[in-house]
Amino acid sequence: MNPGPRSARLSPIWYPMQSMDARYTSQINEGVEPAAPGEFPPVSIGPLRLDIPVVLAPMAGITNYPFRTVCRQFGAGLYVSEMITARALVEKNPKTVKLSEFSPQETPRSLQLYGVDPEYVGKAVESLVAEDRVDHIDLNFGCPVRKVTRKGGGAAIPVKPLLLANIVRAAVRSAGTVPVTIKFRMGIDDNILTYSDAGRVGQDEGCAAVALHARTAAELYSGEAHWEAIADLKQQVKHIPVFGNGDIWEGWDALRMMRQTGCDGVVVGRGCLGRPWLFRDLADVFKGRQPENPPQFGFIREIMLEHARLLAEWFGERMGLLSFRKHATWYTKGFPGSAQWRQSLIQVETLDDLAVALDQLASDLEFPPESMRVKRGKKSRRQRVALPDGYLDDRFDQTPPDPAAETEDSGG
Ligand SMILES: Cc1cc2nc3c(=O)[nH]c(=O)nc-3n(C[C@H](O)[C@H](O)[C@H](O)COP(=O)(O)O)c2cc1C
Repeated sequence: MNPGPRSARLSPIWYPMQSMDARYTSQINEGVEPAAPGEFPPVSIGPLRLDIPVVLAPMAGITNYPFRTVCRQFGAGLYVSEMITARALVEKNPKTVKLSEFSPQETPRSLQLYGVDPEYVGKAVESLVAEDRVDHIDLNFGCPVRKVTRKGGGAAIPVKPLLLANIVRAAVRSAGTVPVTIKFRMGIDDNILTYSDAGRVGQDEGCAAVALHARTAAELYSGEAHWEAIADLKQQVKHIPVFGNGDIWEGWDALRMMRQTGCDGVVVGRGCLGRPWLFRDLADVFKGRQPENPPQFGFIREIMLEHARLLAEWFGERMGLLSFRKHATWYTKGFPGSAQWRQSLIQVETLDDLAVALDQLASDLEFPPESMRVKRGKKSRRQRVALPDGYLDDRFDQTPPDPAAETEDSGG
């Protein structure tokens, strides 16, 4: 977003252009140069062309249209919806239908679908396309949640490449000219790696691109993403773009990932939680510029109020403010005294309460540099992945898993 005259809503504070000072470049990114002219060409996902090769990661409970709207104001890219379950969409579950909404201004409209049964995935895609509700569909094959993998869903699906292929094929066939992509993890754990199979299936079944979250399901969100797996996948998937995902906290990280792995674009998850201006930084470095400093608190307060207002408009004030609470803690992470007044922030029930709570902090507070790489959104721990009994006995089995594997609990 350019918070000057061009910004329709978030313009009450003039935010001066200033080059990023050294405090806001982490040690790991010292010396990284902005993109050279032509170094990172636009990337195409079927008919969609991304001049800046950046995608907002689908995040359940987060990347709804209010959050996408806030992020979109900062930069170019593709902003993917939160995960929508195929069966619930086909059955017109009112909550699922609501979550799949886009604002009339959103373009392109990108929706992530999750399903375990080719029939339901095909039907869900068919209705989305027939009703002209989307411009891009992403399929989630990375969910590590126990109750999903235990039934053979989520990250367990790529263990069975023929089943995976059936699901992807059903989606691609029903999508017509709407591009379909798939997003997956490295595998179940270090011993059961599935990303090569998933990449091959994606390419062979007509996906427009694939994205790899470079962690196993056992790793959940812990440790550092293994970018070397992205490089490996890029070596194997030659005919469609490969997107890398995992640990893009600063614009510079995206350049490092693309230079190290040769991937065609990046998918950005937790780094933008409470920091939607990361998309502006990404646009800057990809255009060969130094990014600006993060905004001071006064401007962040305006972003927060705008985000909360959009959620309240969409969900109703009470539900909207409830769902804003987690964002409030991310936006204020690391600001001096935030731990104390977070209590009042997480109790707000109305937009007026929020405005009063936010007035407690001075507008000219600088963004705390140490907050840039603080993990957020998911706990950092590992797990032993649960699979159905005997699941590994027949990797060529094509039977769709139990419908109970299709829950709204997500992750990827
Ligand atoms: C709160 C949260 C919810 C998520 N929900 C989904 C989801 O519904 N679908 C999906 O494919 N990935 C989901 N993910 C995973 C992200 O899309 C992304 O792959 C992951 O966070 C790694 O990227 P990062 O290191 O940039 O955060 C979720 C992540 C978080 C933090």
